[in-house]
Amino acid sequence: MSDFKERIAAELTAARNRSMAYTDAEDDLLVRQHSPLMSPLVWDLAHVGNYEELWVLRQVGGITPLRPEIDDLYDAFKHPRADRPSLPILEPVEARRYIEGVRGRVLDVLDTVDPHDPDPLRRYGFVFGLVIQHEHQHDETMLATLQLSGRPDLVRDGDLPPGGPPGSGEVFVPAGPFMMGTDTQPWAYDNERPAHRLDLPGYWIDRLPVGNRAYADFIEDGGYDDPRWWAPDGLRWLQRSRAFAPLFWTRDGDTWWRTRFGRTEPVPMDEPVQHVCWYEADAYARWAGRRLPTEAEWEKACGWDAEAGRARTYPWGEDTPGPGTANLGHRAARPAPLGAFPSGASPCGAEQMIGDVWEWTGSWFLPHPGFRSFPYREYSEVFFGSRYRVLRGGSWASDPSVVRTTFRNWDRPERRQIFSGFRCARSASPEHSSEHSPRRSPGRSARRSPERPAEHPPERG
Ligand code: AVJ
Ligand code: FE
Repeated sequence: MSDFKERIAAELTAARNRSMAYTDAEDDLLVRQHSPLMSPLVWDLAHVGNYEELWVLRQVGGITPLRPEIDDLYDAFKHPRADRPSLPILEPVEARRYIEGVRGRVLDVLDTVDPHDPDPLRRYGFVFGLVIQHEHQHDETMLATLQLSGRPDLVRDGDLPPGGPPGSGEVFVPAGPFMMGTDTQPWAYDNERPAHRLDLPGYWIDRLPVGNRAYADFIEDGGYDDPRWWAPDGLRWLQRSRAFAPLFWTRDGDTWWRTRFGRTEPVPMDEPVQHVCWYEADAYARWAGRRLPTEAEWEKACGWDAEAGRARTYPWGEDTPGPGTANLGHRAARPAPLGAFPSGASPCGAEQMIGDVWEWTGSWFLPHPGFRSFPYREYSEVFFGSRYRVLRGGSWASDPSVVRTTFRNWDRPERRQIFSGFRCARSASPEHSSEHSPRRSPGRSARRSPERPAEHPPERG
């Protein structure tokens, strides 16, 4: 087998091993509804196999449907997550047998694929990239489901590097054009395309995600009781949900505790905050006299190498993520401490943009200019509009195949069962843009947070 095919086969196997590990449990845990927000785990499992059958076997391989009668059950658009437990979905044993049957034939189709095929589904093995990324995204969703119910055996305290010196600090991104999106990443989704030029004014962005210490300060300063910090929809969400802290946090006297896969422990104050919704991120930012970065600001800070006039695949360059650059792939079941990855810094000096926690941006999920749906409208296009906010960068639970500087995730602004956090930004005032020249080297541009500005920056999006 060629290197190209071997790599794909290995990635297919890795994704499958992960799905099998998460569903290696009693049937009851797999068929149960853990939350109306989530599917039963066994639905995710068979859905992943059905997707693989539809795209690789039928669409590309021209193979006759194995079980056409189940297509409807695993069509995400036909049945909302809350309804899936009451559908006649496959039992765990059957689901495993089905997905194995699909996988066996997928390897036959892989044999017929050539990286230079003119068919865009076959070229660079695109359709395999599609199913590998799809399976890993569902694996992350399964982890979110398991976090809701408890599965202490999934707590892995992997060898994360220690945190860096305290103090959040900001980095400056000078005004100027950059290229957003991509035309060249072979497995990029349609929503990451096409690459297009954007000219942004100068801005500051946090060097690191907002940490639990800073977030607890917001809570202790009465942040959840002060309507000044909350957008109108956020206030409605706050009143309805009665949230008082991130999801999975509880308070005991002066101590904050969190529950992780059913295990309760003191909140580690030096970790990025996670399990906050967009409204909470937005409110925190306003309290801090800042705002969320727009999606474009986030991407420019993550990947734009102004000196080379080129966007990077990862903040640090083109090397695939490793243990020294990012916390990904469930190596630990938690975000790494703040400052753990100085060698994962982006050209402007921002750190931990990849991995740890998904980062909410201030932007709605909208198409890039020139967007064309491929290979189907239901991956991205039907979600565009003012209903979903964009998250960037991947979390500790994301596989490296699903993170790159251009990768886009989205969710409803009230969702917080996902592994979501954020960092803040602010527009540069004129004196700042002259003080910091574009030639300042990365890393050296980090600055301590200035005083809170008296006025809030204008709302965006
Ligand atoms: C990109 C994570 C929002 O989970 O709904 C899975 C990915 N698309 N199956 C989702 C996806 C189809 C999607 N997100
Ligand atoms: Fe799916």
